[in-house]
Amino acid sequence: MDHFHYHERQLYCEDVPVADLATEYGTPLYVYSRATLLHHLRQIQTAFADASPLICYSLKTNGNIHIGRLMADHGAGFDVTSGGELFRAIASGGVGEKIVFAGVGKTDDEIRYALDTNIRFFNVESEEELANIADIANRRHQVARVALRVNPDLPPKTHIKTDTSVKGVKFGLDIETVVDVAKQYVAHKAVQIIGIHMHLGSPILSVEPYRQGASKAIELIEKLRALGHAISHLNMGGGFGIHYRKNEALPATAFAEVLVPAARQSRCQLVLEPGRFIVGNAGILVSRVLYTKSTGGKKYVIQDAAMNDLIRPTLYDSFHRIWPAAPAQGFPAPPGDYEAEIPGCQPCDVVGPVCESGDFLAKNRFLPPLHRGDLLVTFSAGAYGMSMSSNYNGRLRAAEVLVDGNRHRLIRRRETYEDLVRPEREVPN
Ligand code: LLP
Repeated sequence: MDHFHYHERQLYCEDVPVADLATEYGTPLYVYSRATLLHHLRQIQTAFADASPLICYSLKTNGNIHIGRLMADHGAGFDVTSGGELFRAIASGGVGEKIVFAGVGKTDDEIRYALDTNIRFFNVESEEELANIADIANRRHQVARVALRVNPDLPPKTHIKTDTSVKGVKFGLDIETVVDVAKQYVAHKAVQIIGIHMHLGSPILSVEPYRQGASKAIELIEKLRALGHAISHLNMGGGFGIHYRKNEALPATAFAEVLVPAARQSRCQLVLEPGRFIVGNAGILVSRVLYTKSTGGKKYVIQDAAMNDLIRPTLYDSFHRIWPAAPAQGFPAPPGDYEAEIPGCQPCDVVGPVCESGDFLAKNRFLPPLHRGDLLVTFSAGAYGMSMSSNYNGRLRAAEVLVDGNRHRLIRRRETYEDLVRPEREVPN
């Protein structure tokens, strides 16, 4: 469920016509619906209520501090993956006890920053990292709480670039090595192993990997307890899929049916790190058609959003629904099936201005006739859209707007040319 809907051939975000937002703030523009963000957070909170989980919104998905603030105000903590995200978490009103920190390459500075912030725990990804955290904490006369991130070696479950629990990826400790690593830290004075972490991959459209992962985690937790570690946290990461095409995603309750009993069985506090599930369908990317052309027997719609704004289609071959914000008279309302051939529509490649053939938002997509100046909307763009954007080709990062009922406000201004060169100008001559 989201709060983007067409009414009399006009797309609205909650009560605001998207075309009005494009006029006021310009394009390309990310538009987020507050009600949709909170709806999805609440879906997880409600589905998992029996386990009273610590829900750490995964900031890499969309790090905007105003969205972060909304999450913190409604009870979420944060999953961070760098010092920069830790800074964003705190700028969003996050507090250390609700922050967890993953990533295979935490620097000494980042570890010190996290210790200063007194985060809930580090998700530790290698033996050497654990030794380094121990060493840093020891020198500072502190105790670092850690969860061991485990690669449970499950069958492939999502795109190869985002599957993090198959053998041979860089993430976590191989499951068969965990006990040996943990043995060295029993009663360690600077490190407490308090949890197991598994982030399986993203997006995941089945509960099976969670069932298998959790069962392996429970076995491991018992082994670590037998060694003398007081394991109190089961962190199952994020990864819950969303609707990109039709209605392919599972509801939060489906994951809860597997994970709530697992948490109970493990006698641990359940931790979740959802990102995409909360923000993915809560955001759209609005762009304006610059030109159309036919070349090489193909029809191209060239609009002002590009791979630097939304890299997912070219990086993962991912599918995003695309439709005009105000479809022409006589043309259908948005289709039930965006992948089918639509009568009266033409197959087009929707591309941007960047100088690469890989710069596209969609290929061979059936769209109504489009003209210079028309507005296009790329749906389900709230997750890994803005957060993966860049200045490639000297392009300015888009503005972001948050809609709440009939109100709207800028939550990130459009960049300026001066923003592009400031860090270069500011160096001493
Ligand atoms: N926790 C950890 C440790 C993660 O690495 C991730 C995502 C999450 C939580 C959140 O996963 P989510 O709930 O959002 O699925 N850029 C790719 C996705 C990369 C996911 C990276 N890790 C994409 O656009 O599909």
